[in-house]
Amino acid sequence: MSAAPRTNFPNGMLAGQTAIITGAAQGIGAETAAILAHEGCKVVIADIDAGKAEKTAQAIISEGGSAIAVGGDITNNESIDKLIQQTVEFSNGKIHIIINNAGYAWDDPVEKIGDKQWEQDTIIALHNTAPFKLVRAAAPYFMVKDGEPRSIVNISSTSGIHGNAGQASYALAKAGLVGLTKTLAQEWGPEYGVRANTVAFGAIKTRLTQAPAEESFVIRADGTKHAVGFHGGYDEEEKWVGDIPLRRIGSPTDAGRAILAVVSPLFSYVTGQRSSLGSQNSGSNNRKVSGGRGGM
Ligand SMILES: NC(=O)c1ccc[n+]([C@@H]2O[C@H](COP(=O)([O-])OP(=O)(O)OC[C@H]3O[C@@H](n4cnc5c(N)ncnc54)[C@H](O)[C@@H]3O)[C@@H](O)[C@H]2O)c1
Repeated sequence: MSAAPRTNFPNGMLAGQTAIITGAAQGIGAETAAILAHEGCKVVIADIDAGKAEKTAQAIISEGGSAIAVGGDITNNESIDKLIQQTVEFSNGKIHIIINNAGYAWDDPVEKIGDKQWEQDTIIALHNTAPFKLVRAAAPYFMVKDGEPRSIVNISSTSGIHGNAGQASYALAKAGLVGLTKTLAQEWGPEYGVRANTVAFGAIKTRLTQAPAEESFVIRADGTKHAVGFHGGYDEEEKWVGDIPLRRIGSPTDAGRAILAVVSPLFSYVTGQRSSLGSQNSGSNNRKVSGGRGGM
């Protein structure tokens, strides 16, 4: 057996690559973008909150990274076209990585979930239709044979794996991403070498999962605000950690590093898989329905 070479990436593990990260203005997406940029990746900060997206891109640039912000609602076809076009201009015609991360929950028990809350421009549209349409629009940049790595990561949730009382729409949508991921791996893997994987988070401390603050709202497609966060959330850490194997809530850095691992060359032979972070092993997350204020 020959000695294994020491892995060494002097220009970063993702040098020469370009990534689109949706929902990257803040939280897990913003941290992931910064981590990928630090590994030499050009990052596209796509978010409905254009102002915050621009600030995030500027912060990455000020740290020596390469980034642009593209504002727009990812459930809108024109926004997807604009995102692809501006990415390709930024990257000289190549896209290597898509991270479908934009998302939030709009909780209610099954009998109370309204149609708008279920589909249209909200949960199913954002978590399932938008990732599908973005990947479809990017197909010409993934179905290529230039020998360069290509990878898609769909961000799921342990709600989609185990279910979670009060999150029927979110759980269905997050479970659906697993099927999309595996299908992409089968369609684009054999001929083009594209890898597709799901990363399912259990408990990551972001504004979605902590007590509501001034800025705790998601901008909906129609411009209205949807309150997120919930009292008794992960800022009260001790309440939640009992069945988390590492007995702590994850940080956006924990989340972003896991995503980096999946898109990195270290995972070059991993596709069609799901990684779970901070996951309970079985059953429901036992979260109380939060009256329209989404959890994870
Ligand atoms: N925080 C957790 O514990 C947790 C657990 C499991 C899964 N997740 C998932 O991780 C992802 C990131 O969540 P987060 O906790 O960082 O939340 P966050 O609210 O901090 O970030 C989500 C981002 O998505 C953006 N977004 C929402 N709707 C959009 C749209 N229509 N078009 C474009 N951008 C849009 C928001 O503006 C926001 O910047 C989500 O998909 C979420 O469901 C989070």
